[in-house]
Amino acid sequence: MKGTIFVELIKMAENAFGEDTVDEVLDKADLENDGAYTTVGNYPCSELVKIVVAFSEHSGTDAETLQKMFGHWMLTHFVEHYPQFFADKKDAFSLLDSIESEIHVEVRKIYPEAELPTFITERTTPNQMMMIYASPRPLGAFCHGMIEAALAHFDEKGDITSQVNITIPTVTNFEITLQS
Ligand code: HEM
Repeated sequence: MKGTIFVELIKMAENAFGEDTVDEVLDKADLENDGAYTTVGNYPCSELVKIVVAFSEHSGTDAETLQKMFGHWMLTHFVEHYPQFFADKKDAFSLLDSIESEIHVEVRKIYPEAELPTFITERTTPNQMMMIYASPRPLGAFCHGMIEAALAHFDEKGDITSQVNITIPTVTNFEITLQS
């Protein structure tokens, strides 16, 4: 995984728990480079999961909630650093439709080594979207948080349900229903 993701996760933790606590938790977490990450590096996703688990144990907040918080944090980061992907979208559904066909395509051009998920989106009604997320990485809750943050970015409100596919556990179905 891209170093940016690790750098941002640690920034979020510093923001939530303070720098001293972050140092302490990372020290104890038995990480490969002692928790030192750079934006230009690439690190295994298992390290990210270890960090989330370490902060979950430290704070008592479950790992899923922390992943969702991180999804919000990352979307805000992307809005700031890659505004071009957001400027021409009129709503959250247009943004979600464009991840697979545009945003992650551009990411892959810049970073051929990026480990990206696959999405299929379908608008079932004008107010409802089914979004199928496929990834070998256990980041469904992170994705859920990014979808929530996408709605918030466009000042939209809605319900998001997620269900892991029973036969293919690397696939999660999200159903997003906008409040009308
Ligand atoms: C709502 C919009 C978006 C969603 C739901 C989304 C979803 C995700 C998810 C779930 C991952 C983790 C990898 C995995 O699950 O296999 C990921 C990785 C990534 N995404 Fe997106 N994404 C969105 C928008 C963006 C935007 C705007 C950018 C900006 C360029 C971006 C760039 C990346 C990068 C750089 C990675 C890391 C790849 C790696 O570590 O190798 N994404 N995305």
